[in-house]
Amino acid sequence: SGPADYQAEDAVISQGAVESNHAGFTGTGFVNLDNVVGSYVEWTVNAAAAGPANLEIRYANGTAVNRPLNVNGATADFPGTGAWSAWQTKTVPVQLQAGVNKIRATSTTANGGPNLDRLIVVPQQPGADHQA
Ligand code: GCU
Repeated sequence: SGPADYQAEDAVISQGAVESNHAGFTGTGFVNLDNVVGSYVEWTVNAAAAGPANLEIRYANGTAVNRPLNVNGATADFPGTGAWSAWQTKTVPVQLQAGVNKIRATSTTANGGPNLDRLIVVPQQPGADHQA
């Protein structure tokens, strides 16, 4: 099977809202994180095996200012994409454990996070097969 696809609108959301007013999202919408430190989306990811994986986070940031997210302890940059309807992919490496993993992306500045469309988990280890 291929990489697992996790929509942001299906994740646990703390201080954010599911919206659909900017075109180009996949699924049924995207998450607009509140413009505060600490707003987050948390995905539950199942991994068949432990090992490294790339998190491909699809996002839009219609401002000119970076909106960093803390992703499971590491800060990742989410620079401007030119428009709220212009979606790009940010790749963040993580180590997954076998079974259930929580992937939490938390706003680190008062600007909040970018708008989040989805997460795709791409195993980086031969034979590691991740499934929803
Ligand atoms: C605008 C935009 C939202 C975005 C927000 C923000 O209101 O329409 O989609 O989330 O700016 O700055 O976070």
